Amino acid sequence: MAGFPMEKRLDDFDLSFQPSLDPTVIRDLASLRFIHNAENVVFLGPPGVGKTYLAIALGYEAIRQGFRVYFANASNLIERLIKAKYENKLEERIKGLTKFHLLIVDEMGYLPFNSEGAHCFFNLISRRYEKSSTIFTSNKSYGEWGEILGDHLIAAAVLDRILHHSTTINIKGDSYRLKERRKHGVFTHSLSG
Ligand SMILES: Nc1ncnc2c1ncn2[C@@H]1O[C@H](COP(=O)(O)OP(=O)(O)OP(=O)(O)O)[C@@H](O)[C@H]1O
Ligand SMILES: [Mg+2]
Repeated sequence: MAGFPMEKRLDDFDLSFQPSLDPTVIRDLASLRFIHNAENVVFLGPPGVGKTYLAIALGYEAIRQGFRVYFANASNLIERLIKAKYENKLEERIKGLTKFHLLIVDEMGYLPFNSEGAHCFFNLISRRYEKSSTIFTSNKSYGEWGEILGDHLIAAAVLDRILHHSTTINIKGDSYRLKERRKHGVFTHSLSG
């Protein structure tokens, strides 16, 4: 019901593969203190480094501890908010989302929002601010969120709220997907051979 695309557990995450990740920070997140404090978590980094994995794993842990959790892909979520706006149901929809102790917004940045999307997103963030936690994953640095939202003023206002009480985890490492491709011998050095 939480909408997870797959099942992931923190215990199965290979920390040794991502040396840039501080195990004490991950342990602290796993305590879910951030949810009790209505703080946010942002996982930043290139493709395949485990951002979605960690977001889902924290979500499972939160459900295990009795929190209400909802996982959404950023573009899908925005599309649904825009649709709700046209049906005069934006307020209702955002109110529905405020009942979750933890909202996970995955893949901020792969697809840009239009200006309506940016307004809906700002609305959602304002309503959750200091009340409940949100985890974001993004392949874009904060400086580039203006491009995601298509508006630097809205991006600044959104980031000001998200980052006021938050932990940013910058994962600087290799793609786990690439490692698995290499392991199976599928990886070739160059397409031209
Ligand atoms: N440290 C790890 N230990 C075990 N599995 C991992 C680890 N990191 C990533 N994976 C696995 O590798 C795949 C890619 O990880 P994930 O989807 O979390 O990447 P991502 O950072 O969200 O990438 P993208 O930006 O492309 O969405 C997944 O199948 C995930 O389960
Ligand atoms: Mg991902």
